[in-house]
Amino acid sequence: MAILRTENLTVRFGALTAVDRVTLEIQAGTVHSIIGPNGAGKTTLFNCITGEVRPASGRVFFLDRDITGLTVYQRAQLGIGRSFQRTNIFPNLTVFENVWLAAFARIRPSSFPGPVPRHRLSELKDRVYEVLGEVGLADRAGYRAAELSHGDQRLLEVAIALGLSPKLLMLDEPTAGLSPEETRLMMGVIKQLARRYTILLIEHKIHLVMEVSETISVMHFGRLIAQGPPEEIQKNPAVQEAYLGRR
Ligand SMILES: Nc1ncnc2c1ncn2[C@@H]1O[C@H](COP(=O)(O)OP(=O)(O)OP(=O)(O)O)[C@@H](O)[C@H]1O
Ligand SMILES: [Mg+2]
Repeated sequence: MAILRTENLTVRFGALTAVDRVTLEIQAGTVHSIIGPNGAGKTTLFNCITGEVRPASGRVFFLDRDITGLTVYQRAQLGIGRSFQRTNIFPNLTVFENVWLAAFARIRPSSFPGPVPRHRLSELKDRVYEVLGEVGLADRAGYRAAELSHGDQRLLEVAIALGLSPKLLMLDEPTAGLSPEETRLMMGVIKQLARRYTILLIEHKIHLVMEVSETISVMHFGRLIAQGPPEEIQKNPAVQEAYLGRR
């Protein structure tokens, strides 16, 4: 079953077509990666799926519902969670508080500010610890986010996205700026998460993409130029030329 579908999605910035008629299907329960050279339009495609950027034309469907007109917040409520290419956390809050806020946004009653039932708050706390466990940060719950290593901050960002209990987890270059050691840790976490979540991943480290993905889509100048399982993508001559810069 397709959890997410885009239909002829096009995003323009002035004269630049950053995303060019992209039609894509993400199957539930898979890791689906988007690769492509710098400036190919990967992050813009993400932004268009999450609602941060409006398409010039085309549509986005989530669980068969047309969400093209919905806000970022409405999409998050429906179950689209994402992490950003550049770390996006509250540095002065604790690790626990960062995730708690995301989880709270999910259960927040429409009457808020108003009383939140006590049992909901205790469920929330359990959920935060569950999520911190999923990314391996449970023992650092009380640290200020600013005190964490860069690698742990990136893991915290994944935890924040998970705090929303997403049906689709979108990760934009989660290993950007990480050491080889931290990269291995992050990929281990992603592999574990893949058992429970549908993941849409943007990642430049091609060997990692090959290792974790069921499906890979390749973007180049805003267009999808190839899609398939890792073995096929690796052999595809158009991909080799566009992405790897050689024939
Ligand atoms: N808000 C914006 N205004 C104008 N141009 C933009 C904006 N956001 C992105 N672009 C341009 O759109 C194109 C696609 O950018 P995008 O960030 O989506 O690429 P990317 O594939 O994520 O690249 P990278 O791998 O470097 O992160 C680039 O040419 C970029 O300069
Ligand atoms: Mg990007």
